[in-house]
Amino acid sequence: MRKCIILFFSILIFFSCDKKNSNEINIYSKRHYQVDTEQYKNFERLTGIKVNFIKAGDDELLERLKNEGKNSPADLYVTVDAGKLQKGVEMGLFQQIKSDIIDNNVSNDLKDINGYWIPITYRARLLVYSNDRVNPSELSTYENLSDAKWKGRILVRSSSNAYNQALMSSLYANLGEKAVTEWSSKVVSNFARDPKGNDRDQVKAIAAGQGDIAIVNSYYIGLLLSSEKQADVDAANSVSVFFPNQGDDERGAHINISGFAMTKNAPNKENAIKLLEYLTGEEAQNTYMNNSYEYPANPRVKPSKIVQSWGEFKRDSLDLNALGLFREEAIKVFDNTGWK
Ligand code: FE2
Repeated sequence: MRKCIILFFSILIFFSCDKKNSNEINIYSKRHYQVDTEQYKNFERLTGIKVNFIKAGDDELLERLKNEGKNSPADLYVTVDAGKLQKGVEMGLFQQIKSDIIDNNVSNDLKDINGYWIPITYRARLLVYSNDRVNPSELSTYENLSDAKWKGRILVRSSSNAYNQALMSSLYANLGEKAVTEWSSKVVSNFARDPKGNDRDQVKAIAAGQGDIAIVNSYYIGLLLSSEKQADVDAANSVSVFFPNQGDDERGAHINISGFAMTKNAPNKENAIKLLEYLTGEEAQNTYMNNSYEYPANPRVKPSKIVQSWGEFKRDSLDLNALGLFREEAIKVFDNTGWK
């Protein structure tokens, strides 16, 4: 009996200590960048709050959150696609994030209208073109990539990639099924080769003369230009950046965010909010800019010098949740038009 009572009280003490001293945050991360580790270390130094994170694919992490339910140790989920955040919201995994500091730190048009996720950075999925073989006056819109003048010249990665799926979702939302299906068939017939490799590989393929224009995420150009490998720098210097759909009556270039959602039962909610306030603040935003070459969610912060050199651009004002809402339709368009 005495043993039982001691055991009972030890368990009680263990749990109450655990609650009071939970000086940590647990993150499930799809992001795979070195800069994130640096940000979490900086936050830890400032606050004494330990940040733990595990990295895996989006669908795997969302599934894990669903299976763990109330017992999940995760406080935050971070990814590079508003579509996956929307999917998690639809799965009932998250709670709204309420903080005046975050609200004041982040551009209005990048926010979730329902308040379930917050952006930290954004990126444009833009065009790069060969300096030797393309005159920028030939370029205009994503829609124009269906023009026969691009036959055998377009490079892009596979349709299984979330960046392409988000782009197609945005086109579906903006143009409708019929127009986007026709567009996709024509773009596929203009491919320089079957889709393969990542975004960096498309730039390298232009440098190697295998195609003339490519659809890539903006930050990869910054990463190539600042690479220690001369071949990367040379590849990036063989192309220029073009923001599509910039005319007065056009909707702007497709963007996507990197963003965080808070799990429904986050065990360390207050700490997690503190981290998000820090990451959207000016110091951390500058750290992102100079390491990942993304654009800042905080409008008081400027992108890196390299990114600034491309000039400002108009971004598509589509509700970013559409990148998730139209995802299944987008995948069907890829399948029906032979975009591998
Ligand atoms: Fe990426």
